[in-house]
Amino acid sequence: MKLDYTYIEDLSKHEGETVTLKGWLYNKRGSKGLYFLILRDGTGLAQCVVAKDAVDEASWEAAEAATRESALVVTGVVRRDERQVGGYEVQASSVQLLHRAEEYPITPKEHGVEFLMNHRHLWLRSRRQWAILRIRNRIIMSIHNFFQEQGFVQMDAPILTGNAVEGTSTLFEIDYFGDKAYLTQSGQLHGEAMAMAFGKIYTFGPTFRAEKSKTRRHLTEFWMIEPEMAFYDLAMNMELAEDLLSRIVADVLRESRTELEVLGRDLAPLERVRPPFPRLSYDEAVALLRSDETAEMLTSRMEALREEERALETELAENKKRYGQAKKSEKRRLDAREIAIRKRRAEIEEALRNLPKWKESARTFEWGGDFGGSDETVLTWHFDRPIIVHRYPAAVKAFYMKRDPEDERLALGMDVLAPEGYGEIIGGGERATDLAFLEKQVAEHNLPPEAFKWYFDLRRYGSAPHSGFGLGLERTITWICGLPHLREAIPFPRLIDRLYP
Ligand code: 4AD
Ligand code: MG
Repeated sequence: MKLDYTYIEDLSKHEGETVTLKGWLYNKRGSKGLYFLILRDGTGLAQCVVAKDAVDEASWEAAEAATRESALVVTGVVRRDERQVGGYEVQASSVQLLHRAEEYPITPKEHGVEFLMNHRHLWLRSRRQWAILRIRNRIIMSIHNFFQEQGFVQMDAPILTGNAVEGTSTLFEIDYFGDKAYLTQSGQLHGEAMAMAFGKIYTFGPTFRAEKSKTRRHLTEFWMIEPEMAFYDLAMNMELAEDLLSRIVADVLRESRTELEVLGRDLAPLERVRPPFPRLSYDEAVALLRSDETAEMLTSRMEALREEERALETELAENKKRYGQAKKSEKRRLDAREIAIRKRRAEIEEALRNLPKWKESARTFEWGGDFGGSDETVLTWHFDRPIIVHRYPAAVKAFYMKRDPEDERLALGMDVLAPEGYGEIIGGGERATDLAFLEKQVAEHNLPPEAFKWYFDLRRYGSAPHSGFGLGLERTITWICGLPHLREAIPFPRLIDRLYP
C-alpha cells in the first residue's frame, strides 16, 4: 500500500525531499520566531524546525498551540543533521494540529513506579518503553525464525484446560458451565501430544499462574515458548535451549542497537552469549553454593559496593558545592546526575541488605531443596554466560519428569539461568515414558487421574522418548534489556495487585 506520509525511520531515504510526518509532540523548545518540535511516530524521533517566516499563519499558530503529546501532521524538507536524534531533521513548510492534548500527566521529572504503572497506557509512549517493547518484538521474531528454519511446526495449546501441569498451588480456577476449569499454566502436556503427531513442535502462548508472591520475576500472566521434540533426550534438549538463546541474543545485538543504546545496556555480557553454556549438575551447583569460593565472592561484592557508595557520596557533596555558581544548563545536568546517584544508592543499600543474608543461606543450603531466586543469582555470578543446571531432586520437580537411570532420586530436568544475577529463564527436561510410573506420579502429586486419561494415552500408543522446555518470554526480555523488574517487559503487566490498565 502506498502511504501519503513517511515514517521517521525512513527519513534517510528522503534526504532533500519534501515529506509529511504524522505523529505526536514529544518535546518542544522555542525562541523568537522559531519552534523546535520533537515529533515521535512510533518508529523514531525527529526534530521539526518551524520558522515563523517559512510557514503560513495557521501553521505557526498550530506550532504555538501544540502541547506535549498533541497529535500533529508536519510537512517539510528532510535535512541531514548529525547532531539531531535519528540524524535527520525536517524544515517545516506546514504544521497541522489534529488534536491538542490536555496537560500530559507524565513529565520529564522523576515519577514513582506506582504512578507510572497506573499510567501504563501512556507510559508506553516514552523512549525507554519504546526500546524495551521493540526488543520484545525482535525477540519474538527471532524465536519464530529459529524454530521455523529448523522445521519445527508452531501449534497452539488450549488456554482453558482441565489439567494442572505445574502443580495445583498456582492455578487460576474458573467456572466452566458448572464444571471446574483452569487457565493454563503451561502448554506442555498438549505439546507432548502434538509432538507425537508432528515430530517437533513449539507453542507460543499466554500462560497463567496465581503467584501469590511479589517478586521481580513473577507475573500472573506471561508468555511462554514451549518446544517439544520426539526422540530428543536431555542432552539434545539442553543443546537446543543453548542454540535458541544464542540466536536470540545475536539477533538483538545485530538488529536492535539503537534500542539497546536507549536503555544504556552494557553489551559485553550479551556478546559473550555463545555455546557452549557451562553445565552443572544439581549436586555440583549445591557444592558451589556452599563453597568458600562463593563466600569470598559475596564478600568482595559487598566491599566493592561499599566503595562505590563512598564514591557516590563524595560526588554528591562536590556537586552540591558547585551548584550555587552553576549556569542553568549545568544545573540541569547536576539535577539529572543527583537523581541517578540517589537511584543507584538505593540499589546499593538494597544489595547490601541482601548479600549477607544470601551468603548465609548459600553456606547452609541443604541438598534436596529447590533453588530460590537468590541462590540462582549467586550461582550465575560465578559465570560469564548463561548456565544450565540439570538433574534436580525429583521431589522438587513436576510429576512428568523422567528419572535419572543412574540415580532414581534425580529427575532429568534442566533449568537455564541467565547471567548477571537474572536466574531461571528456561525450565524443561526429558519426559517420563512409562505408563505405570506416570500413573503413580499423578497419584503421589494428588492430581485427579481422570483429567490425565488422555495424557496417559500418549504412553499407550507408541510411547517414545521425548523432551522439551519452556522459555519465559518476559524473563528473557528482562535479562537482555538489563531491567530491574519484569513488569516493563510486557505492554500491560498482570501482577497480584494489578489488573489495570
Ligand atoms: O519452569 P516452568 O514452570 O516450566 C514449565 O512450565 C514446563 N511445563 C515447561 C516445559 O517444559 N514445556 O516455567 C518455564 C519458564 C520459567 O523458566 C520462567 O522463565 C517462566 O516460564 N515463568 C514465569 N515467567 C514470569 N512469571 C511467572 N510467574 C513465571 N513462571 C514461570
Ligand atoms: Mg521452573
